[in-house]
Amino acid sequence: MEVLGIDIGGTGIKGAIVNVETGELTSERHRIPTPVGAKPDDVANEVAEMVQHFDWKGKVGCGFPTIVSAGKARSFGNIDKSWVGVQIDELFSGKTGLEFHVANDADVAGLAEIKLGAGKDVNGVVILITIGTGLGSGVFVDGKLVPNVELGTVPYKEYERFEFYASDSARKREELSYKKWGKRFKKFLLFTQQTFSPDLIILGGGASKKTEKFKEALEIDVPVIPAKFENNAGIIGAALTVVQ
Ligand code: BGC
Repeated sequence: MEVLGIDIGGTGIKGAIVNVETGELTSERHRIPTPVGAKPDDVANEVAEMVQHFDWKGKVGCGFPTIVSAGKARSFGNIDKSWVGVQIDELFSGKTGLEFHVANDADVAGLAEIKLGAGKDVNGVVILITIGTGLGSGVFVDGKLVPNVELGTVPYKEYERFEFYASDSARKREELSYKKWGKRFKKFLLFTQQTFSPDLIILGGGASKKTEKFKEALEIDVPVIPAKFENNAGIIGAALTVVQ
């Protein structure tokens, strides 16, 4: 079965058609920049543009960069504050006429890795961390998701959120070398380790392709490995929400 998977991020909206049995992308990936300000109506228009790009008529799975419960945004992450309380699935369905399944972006990236990727058949506590505009986290216990665990939003020192200190956008904003940024990211990994004592940490998001550049940061007491599907884990997991 094929599903259109859309991964909505603070910087880009990425989509592809996904074979939900294998996780394979059966189309090219398409990327649309997230509209400036990322307001609900503007983002919904780009989601409709994505659907149109693929001429898609079936169900759509969507990863979204906020806390999401039953299709509704309960926080605003790094997008517009007015998202809080928005029924995201209904908004996107209204624009496209299609059925949408929406869940947190890091939770769905984790789902792809747990079902079909680097966390397949791994028991115990597995945490997927997405490194991008923010720091997302998906927590799994014996393959089952604990939804909406928000490790990146925990305060750190003078930073209101850990992600303002150690995300990939912090690296770019503060023009940090990978070595310097890696030291910051390691603090986030150590915090994650101390909080959950996970058995495995999987890294997703844009930076998961570049772990060579910050390998010293990954030397903690828990194995830390890149996502099998790299930055596509978000798209694949989004599609998987339709068949959950
Ligand atoms: C949000 C999370 C999201 C992460 C990555 C954070 O700002 O609070 O819900 O998973 O960004 O997009």
